[in-house]
Amino acid sequence: MSLEEKHKKFEEINKHSELGGGIERIEKHHKAGKKTARERLNNLLDPGTFVEMDKFMKHRCTDFAMDKNKILGDGVVSGYGKIDGRLVYVFAQDFTVFGGSLSLANSDKIVKITKLAMQNGAPIIGLNDSGGARIQEGVESLAGYANLFYLNVMGSGVIPQISAILGPCAGGAVYSPAMTDFIFMVKDTSYMFVTGPDVIKTVTHEEVTKEDLGGAMTHNSKSGVAHFVSEDDEQSMMMIRELMSFLPSNNMEDPPVKLCIDDIHREDEKLQSIVPDDPNKPYDIKDIIDVVVDENNFFEVQPHYAKNMVIGYARFNGQPVGIVANQPAFLAGVLDINSSIKAARFVRFCDAFNIPIVTFVDVPGFLPGTAQEYGGIIKHGAKLLYAFSEATVPKITIITRKAYGGAYDVMSSKHIGADVNYAYPTAEIAVMGPDGAINIIYRNKLNEEEKVKAVKEYRDTFANPYKAAELGYIDEIIYPKQTRFKIIQALEMTKNKSKSNPAKKHGNIPL
Ligand code: HXC
Repeated sequence: MSLEEKHKKFEEINKHSELGGGIERIEKHHKAGKKTARERLNNLLDPGTFVEMDKFMKHRCTDFAMDKNKILGDGVVSGYGKIDGRLVYVFAQDFTVFGGSLSLANSDKIVKITKLAMQNGAPIIGLNDSGGARIQEGVESLAGYANLFYLNVMGSGVIPQISAILGPCAGGAVYSPAMTDFIFMVKDTSYMFVTGPDVIKTVTHEEVTKEDLGGAMTHNSKSGVAHFVSEDDEQSMMMIRELMSFLPSNNMEDPPVKLCIDDIHREDEKLQSIVPDDPNKPYDIKDIIDVVVDENNFFEVQPHYAKNMVIGYARFNGQPVGIVANQPAFLAGVLDINSSIKAARFVRFCDAFNIPIVTFVDVPGFLPGTAQEYGGIIKHGAKLLYAFSEATVPKITIITRKAYGGAYDVMSSKHIGADVNYAYPTAEIAVMGPDGAINIIYRNKLNEEEKVKAVKEYRDTFANPYKAAELGYIDEIIYPKQTRFKIIQALEMTKNKSKSNPAKKHGNIPL
């Protein structure tokens, strides 16, 4: 073979590999409103930065006549590239090749780049579009998945692991993402389930559509499995890029500080009256967050799930922070099972990756009732207490209004290690709300008139920030309009914080 022929052969093989399952299947894929694996990677990465690895890898299966059906690359495009100039490792499953299913060879490719990501301290981003274990390969494909699961766990807390679900993902194709840090889904085209509607019908006779069972909104609003939802593949890739801008590349780095063009002293008079006079009147905590963060840019995580808790990323003076906030506009901001789990996982991610935590508190307490008790609110609420307590990153807390009972302790109080605790003059810090307290202290001893008087007295005496400030549990009472600068000051003051918990193999979070 001449040199020219060798080059031509290489060019042909290359082109062949890039076509994946072939033009027909690509067209079908496009018609379904989906982009191909390579198109997705182009959207995700800085232009021209993608370096592909193992482009010519093939599966090694011989059963079911698979030895006559080999496709270069074997259904996953893998390698590395850059997002905003920073190194990331990526893989994108190609649904046009055996439904993106995972063979052992396919898994070997993902394992290779995951190991590289861990060794080189850079995030791994997986674009999943897969029917799960490659059925023809049997236990070998299960081995392939287990290899991935193991690495997901080993990499947890070492490098950020991000998953996008961009098609019908079943079986192992959902378990690996479940062990990563964030899951992105796309409306109408992405699904996650352990087993699909057909199997469910056979086994339990339950009839359910795949949208209801595992569609994007199901997992974003009901199960809490996913964190973000987008309209299409492209928007999903843009959202991943935005999330990455808040995260360090690994657990040894600090998150990337951006040049801040927003006035750090900026005060907004509107803030002075956002917390209503009437303590039972709701307000939207995001109206405070949006105003105080750099450029009003709050990147909310899980906005559709457990809306009584708001979590997300923002910057103060260019420094990325994780924000945790009770939401008085939804269920009065009460702590329940779902909101506790939602915030606990977020706090643990921030702590693992050196991202300071800013907590806004307006919480009437834990949600009472049998549904919560039978569901294990004691155990699940304890997750949040555990997460805040073990977090050693800078922790800044602002009590805007209610901080009652155990929820006061849980929500990043001074006692569990917060560094700077602020309160607005409207803060109410006590064992419980005035009505509940008077009911218990006086039982049935008071008539209506006396009750109203006692409630007022309790509110005036206890439902304020001054007792906590007297004891040093609140460092400073601030005007709401000062919030932005006060948070920036606190972040600056705690910038070099160095704290570690007692040495141990690992703690035992109440799972
Ligand atoms: C091999 C597969 C496949 C699989 C799909 N294909 N899934 N090939 N192994 N797991 C192939 C199909 O044969 C088809 O090939 C092509 O991919 C497209 O599939 P369709 O069914 O035509 O597409 P669609 O109608 O969109 O349905 C997609 C789907 C469905 C919902 C994913 O294919 C499906 O239910 N697949 C099986 C899912 C599953 O049960 N997987 C095993 C999970 S167990 P052609 O050649 O016709 O294009 C598992 C174990 C790990 O993962 C557990 C760890 C905890």
